[in-house]
Amino acid sequence: MARRKIIAGNWKMNKTPSEAVKLVNELKPLVATEKADVVFCVPAIDLIPVVEAVKGSNIQVGAENMYFEESGAYTGEVSPAMLVDAGVKYVIIGHSERREYFAETDETVNKKVLKAFEHGITPIICCGESLTQREQGITIDWIRQQIKIAFLNVTADQAKTAVIAYEPIWAIGTGKVATTEQAQEVCKAIRDCIAELYNKETAEEIRIQYGGSVSAASAPELFAQPDIDGGLVGGASLKPDFGKIVNY
Ligand code: 13P
Repeated sequence: MARRKIIAGNWKMNKTPSEAVKLVNELKPLVATEKADVVFCVPAIDLIPVVEAVKGSNIQVGAENMYFEESGAYTGEVSPAMLVDAGVKYVIIGHSERREYFAETDETVNKKVLKAFEHGITPIICCGESLTQREQGITIDWIRQQIKIAFLNVTADQAKTAVIAYEPIWAIGTGKVATTEQAQEVCKAIRDCIAELYNKETAEEIRIQYGGSVSAASAPELFAQPDIDGGLVGGASLKPDFGKIVNY
């Protein structure tokens, strides 16, 4: 079965609501394609205007984070129901920046993944190793552990609709993109891990992205790898280059 490519932008903490609408209007014609799913993951405060701005286009909107409780005394958090009501279809979970600066753990990632599925939001589940881990040769073991905990109590039917983003931490925002061989090797290991946890069909259906300094130049070769089903793009998703990446 041929998996449909999915190319998502992660805007991180960039663009005010009015800047966001302007950027969407600029990028809309550049990312128009029938060939791949295109997702803009934007800051929480930009979600409502961006959902409005993408109406009638092929762009779907994702959040960059959400909380794992339904509602209540969690000052500053955004609930899954809020995202659904706003028209949000995807949510990035466990980005390495959230793990590093906001104390996210494999356990909170798992709670959020379960909650996203409960609400019909597709999680983009992030994993990735540090430079030290790569140099110590423990990349695959580390990624397998992240994946196994993220998917605890997730059913096979849910898992096959998930998106996993493999983002080596040393490649994020550094301009130092992983080689296609490195990226393919880990994405394949992730698929093998899903096959072990579930079965072959689930592993064949789940989509695995590469992220980390993806550019218009590096996208074509990366996305041609058998186990790489698209990308999670940071810096380049804020520029017209994102159109080139989508139309790699
Ligand atoms: P860059 O594309 O800016 O390296 O960021 C990657 C990333 O973290 C996407 O989530």
